[in-house]
Amino acid sequence: MQDRYGHRISYLRVSITDRCNERCSYCMPQELQEWLPRHEILTYEETLRLIRIAAELGVSKVRITGGEPLTRRGILDFVRPIPEIPRITSIGLSTNGTLLAREITPTKTMAEALRDAGVQSVNISLDTLDAAVYSQITGRDFLAQVLDGIDAAIAAGFDQIKLNAVLMRGRNEDQLLPLIEFAAERNLLVRFIELMPVSTTEVLNESNFMSVMAAKRSIQSAYGSLIPETEFRTNGPATYYQIPGRAQRIGFIGAMTNMHFCENCNKLRLTCDGKLRPCLGSYLEFDIMGPLRAGASDEELKQFFVNVVDRKPREHDFRNNYQPNRKMIAIGG
Ligand code: GTP
Ligand code: 5AD
Ligand code: SF4
Repeated sequence: MQDRYGHRISYLRVSITDRCNERCSYCMPQELQEWLPRHEILTYEETLRLIRIAAELGVSKVRITGGEPLTRRGILDFVRPIPEIPRITSIGLSTNGTLLAREITPTKTMAEALRDAGVQSVNISLDTLDAAVYSQITGRDFLAQVLDGIDAAIAAGFDQIKLNAVLMRGRNEDQLLPLIEFAAERNLLVRFIELMPVSTTEVLNESNFMSVMAAKRSIQSAYGSLIPETEFRTNGPATYYQIPGRAQRIGFIGAMTNMHFCENCNKLRLTCDGKLRPCLGSYLEFDIMGPLRAGASDEELKQFFVNVVDRKPREHDFRNNYQPNRKMIAIGG
């Protein structure tokens, strides 16, 4: 699938729930959250059918997101068939990490079970190593659980584990070096992400926004000039650098300040209530649950995907007059 700007779609982000056990201010606005009722959520069978159809159209990478995907029951049964889908070569999961260390049998953690089910890489949110700041940011006291979750993920032996830190001036700007050292000690890949006004425009203002450039400046004053690794990419939009004199690589996701950010966009999003979104930073979304439940054929659903891709914008609207509609928690990043 290719859109009118030449973006080739190979990456489907699948949100399987709008629920979360944390309350990050940048993801979930303060007002009382009403979770979607079960019948408004795609069943796992429906979601798997859509992944199969996307794979026939050229999608090879699937990332499972939420809300917090590990809060939805039966996730292992959902994951297991995905590696069998022809052309799917990469399966990732983005999680807040709080449930990875949970023992789901006396001998197995959730992380190991996910690995056995076919998940190859996990991206874990970690904005700070300070327990008090962690609670302020996430609304929950779960730092110790997340650190256990990271250990469990390492023990499970995923191909790749990334840490995601959202940059927030006045909140975690003093955490960049501690997070880099934490990642170095464990041989993990840490990425620093610019805050995006996805849920409400108020989450982002001039006093709390920290650009990738400012983060790099602060990192470089400690470690020296970062060395661009233009050849290295993951599936997403991050760019990577090597820390001089070390084997360590770190990444940056600068959706707000990098004017070329969207040029290589390769993705499409499926929300848990069955909407296809051609771009994180656009209000556009198209209901595929309707036709799916009305009995559409695979061919008709394929055409639906193709039509949505055709509506993909050249780039996001975050810098313009972006009108938040769906909350980040119900998109999944
Ligand atoms: P990999 O590089 O394959 O690991 O995936 P990823 O970086 O796409 O996944 P992840 O779920 O870890 O997302 C990290 C951050 O990047 C989150 O803040 C996402 O919202 C953001 N992000 C991922 N894809 C896009 C995108 O297409 N556009 C924008 N604006 N942000 C994105
Ligand atoms: N801006 C940038 N990143 C965000 N995430 C959640 N909300 C935002 C936001 N408003 C990140 C989380 C998680 C990833 C999937 O998305 O930190 O790591
Ligand atoms: Fe693609 Fe939209 Fe993300 Fe830009 S903001 S990289 S166009 S999904």
